[in-house]
Amino acid sequence: MTKFSLTTPIYYVTAKPHLGHAYTTIVGDALARWHRLMGEDVFYLTGTDEHGLKVQQAAEAAGMTPQAFVDTIAPQYEVAWKKLNISNDDFIRTSEPRHYAGVAKLLQACYDAGDIELDVYTGLYCVSCEEYYTEEELIGGLCPIHKIPVQSVDEENYFFRLSRFQDRLLDWYGSHPDAMKPEFRGNEAIGLIKGGLRDFSISRTSLSWGIPIPWDAKHVAYVWFDALTNYMSAVGYGTDDARFADWWPVDYHLIGKDIVRHHCVYWPAMLMSAGIDLPKGWGIGGWLLSGGEKMSKTTGNVVNPLDLVDDVGVDGFRYYVLAETAYGQDGDFTYEGLLGRYNSDLANNLGNLLSRVATVVGKKCDGIGPAPAADSPLAEAAASAYDSTAAAWLALQPSRALEATWSLIRATNAYLETNEPWKAEPGEAVDRMMGDALEALRIVAVLASPAVPETAQAVWERIGLTGLVTDQRLPEAAAWGGYPGGVAVTKGAPMFPRRQLPA
Ligand code: ME8
Ligand code: MG
Repeated sequence: MTKFSLTTPIYYVTAKPHLGHAYTTIVGDALARWHRLMGEDVFYLTGTDEHGLKVQQAAEAAGMTPQAFVDTIAPQYEVAWKKLNISNDDFIRTSEPRHYAGVAKLLQACYDAGDIELDVYTGLYCVSCEEYYTEEELIGGLCPIHKIPVQSVDEENYFFRLSRFQDRLLDWYGSHPDAMKPEFRGNEAIGLIKGGLRDFSISRTSLSWGIPIPWDAKHVAYVWFDALTNYMSAVGYGTDDARFADWWPVDYHLIGKDIVRHHCVYWPAMLMSAGIDLPKGWGIGGWLLSGGEKMSKTTGNVVNPLDLVDDVGVDGFRYYVLAETAYGQDGDFTYEGLLGRYNSDLANNLGNLLSRVATVVGKKCDGIGPAPAADSPLAEAAASAYDSTAAAWLALQPSRALEATWSLIRATNAYLETNEPWKAEPGEAVDRMMGDALEALRIVAVLASPAVPETAQAVWERIGLTGLVTDQRLPEAAAWGGYPGGVAVTKGAPMFPRRQLPA
């Protein structure tokens, strides 16, 4: 069975998840679900980043030990992901023993390769980024990402000799031109490498909350070296060689554009040093902005995704974040935008199609869905919707995938509006139109299921199908003619009642 693995960043457990974290995790979830529909053996990984100064300081502020503190926050991510219907196959926490083993092994491998050496670091550090900066990189003396003051650091650290890897990284990316998606974000990463690479510190002595350096326990591992290793420790690196061989290299690391340097520069160099295969791909998302600024725990302008789920439902929310922004671009979150999408695409397009079909089948077909015709005028729209949907998911473009799936909904609504089955007498013509529309809805349910899994299952059941839509397999399930006919269609309450903006 073809294997497909993908990861989200592991999130800092300094506060509960916000919309930005939910965004990346939903993109990954939909992609994982698409690959499961393709019959692949999928491993979707997420988790929490629990070490480092930022977490240690948050724990101090809460009057707790770091371990007790992270133990209260990490479960909030697991709860949120359940509520958002995230189908992750594992959840790794960097405070787990399996992860310690992986980090120790990778540190030792880079050290043995001669790429880790002791040196003195004098410079600047942003605790929110857990990143070193030069004077020139600051904007108005502040961290360019979080707009907060940075700290001066002067300590003896172990350094990873990143500067040695510039040519090897450029060669590798040159021969893997599709590895980073979308392309313009990949070009930004290549620009960072071309701009010159500085060695970076991979240990700290001034903090205790971290993983000890195997050969010098006065030091703990720099949180980024520690965190990046999660992608391998979760699949057995350091604990289970056979499993690691099965699952590495990963197919995609999904990340936000804020952590490109770590994932597309540091991480591949660390792997090269240790003689480990590089990831096959990276998906680099833009930021969701709120009032024009990156939504961030540090800035405090965050929207709680669970509040939005209470408001528009889990699928209303998932649909919005996937459809609204082209992956890679920044997007502005607005409540108007959320309700606008909900009303137009879910209530008017999908909800309306389902309710029209169920109403006509109830009134004119005795509630029993007729089978589709082989030569339906909708068959071509269905085939092209499938092709474009599949291509867009494989290109990491969820918004285009949904656009393509929704084109079949729109074509079906247009077909009904042209032929007005609600005005026709019961009989062959109405049966034929309803069979075609039900078949289109069946295909829509399959194609939309990665984005809106609960809705897809509900459509599946209302049109009289049994079993789970997630057990369907592509491409067979998208072929015209799968709706059996002769099954009971249920009208039910409106799936997406229209919403008014509050005055
Ligand atoms: O950086 N818009 O964790 P983090 C879109 N622990 N995505 C956003 C976002 C926004 N406004 N805000 C956050 C860390 N994200 C490290 C990662 S991985 C080895 C270690 C998403 O809690 C986006 O994917 O700051 C971003 O890269 C990630 O959350 C950063 O989460
Ligand atoms: Mg961050």
